[in-house]
Amino acid sequence: MFMNFRKMRRCQRVQLLTMCLVLSLMMVGWEQLDQSVVSHVKSYSYRFLDNRFAFIKDSFTIPQEEALSFSNYRYLLDHQDKCANQDVLLLLFVKTSPENTKRREAIRSTWGNESYIFQTLGADVKVVFVLGAPGTTPGGPFGTKEAGSSATKSHKAIVQDKLVKEDRLNGDLIQQDFADTFHNLTLKLIQQFHWAHTRCAQARFVMTADDDIFVHMPNLVGYLQEKARKEVKDFWIGRVHRGAPPIRDKDSKYYVPYEMYPWPTYPDYTAGAGYVVSRDVAEKIYQATLKLNATIYIDDVFMGICAHSMGVSPQEHLYFSGEGKAPYHVCIYDQMMTSHGHIEDIYDLWKVATDPLVKQRTSGFLGRMYCTAAKLALLCRPYFFNTYPCKGAFA
Ligand SMILES: *[C@@H]1O[C@H](CO)[C@@H](O)[C@H](O)[C@H]1NC(C)=O
Ligand SMILES: *[C@@H]1O[C@H](CO)[C@@H](O)[C@H](O)[C@H]1NC(C)=O
Ligand SMILES: *[C@@H]1O[C@H](CO)[C@@H](O)[C@H](O)[C@H]1NC(C)=O
Repeated sequence: MFMNFRKMRRCQRVQLLTMCLVLSLMMVGWEQLDQSVVSHVKSYSYRFLDNRFAFIKDSFTIPQEEALSFSNYRYLLDHQDKCANQDVLLLLFVKTSPENTKRREAIRSTWGNESYIFQTLGADVKVVFVLGAPGTTPGGPFGTKEAGSSATKSHKAIVQDKLVKEDRLNGDLIQQDFADTFHNLTLKLIQQFHWAHTRCAQARFVMTADDDIFVHMPNLVGYLQEKARKEVKDFWIGRVHRGAPPIRDKDSKYYVPYEMYPWPTYPDYTAGAGYVVSRDVAEKIYQATLKLNATIYIDDVFMGICAHSMGVSPQEHLYFSGEGKAPYHVCIYDQMMTSHGHIEDIYDLWKVATDPLVKQRTSGFLGRMYCTAAKLALLCRPYFFNTYPCKGAFA
């Protein structure tokens, strides 16, 4: 393999060097190249399929009385006046489960602290936690064999008592009486848009987020204030899944049988980890839920079906993460909106990401140069998936 560099002819040397240069450029641009090839292939097949998407709307449409069965669960905890007479910029729903008390605590004392947001950012943001009813066994699925025995019943009652206390203290739980399970997430989605419609219709934006997400509230609020000034309409942003196929592997958590969804592609949708819609879109989604069959239990896919039926399509925001966790770096903090998979580190991340030093170190000509280089190194590695796309380095 060893070659003597000096013995090579000049033109060979030039060739070799050129090849190295091209290869390294390709490495840097790989993700972009890859994404554009893939997205082109997808968008072509998507366009081809697009005509058929009309069938989706038709086949999901059911009589309104039947559609209402997905939303008419009793409220166990509610706050009817949460938004009353206020100019709410953002109504933020955090999808949580009865037993995730620690996650809710963490969110309330970091990015979800309403009074902090109001005092330091001058924005009225409402953060509410949406959940269903606790299961009968600790951490177990709802309605297992043991359901009904006195010991397991009391588990459910104990968890519910704790929730009532937690809610009395914080006034931010919105709970409906359906089993809080993975396969009922679509009910939780419907719960959110119905609640927004009846209790907080004036909110300019509505956001849905997981309870293990980090939201860079100052960045998000600044961005939305700007959008609110422009009175944006048809606005739906997040990490977009385009032309995603249904998963037919029975072992997968996201398995969807043909009977439930026979087509090879879902309409575009944003990752359920965190996305934002404008007031008019929230209203359209609400209207769609009054007509559509909500048995498909992947909530973000159902959101895509609702939006598609109303003619709304999502837009990509480079700094909304899907499944991925953002790299820890000052130049990332400067632009990040959401990052997924934060539980233990949420307090620390909140502290460092909102430190005034971040703006100092990333501004000015040198700061921007430094950040472009740093983000290139962090985001444009071909093997580094699941974070913000390479394009983010140039944003
Ligand atoms: C929320 O922020 C306010 C004002 O900055 C502060 O006084 C309060 O202790 C914070 N709440 C929590 C739960 O951290
Ligand atoms: C969803 O909630 C309903 C109402 O509590 C319950 O009967 C049903 O079993 C739940 N479905 C799943 C898949 O957990
Ligand atoms: C909704 O779709 C499911 C299949 O996913 C089907 O079994 C059910 O009958 C449909 N409901 C109505 C009311 O058509």
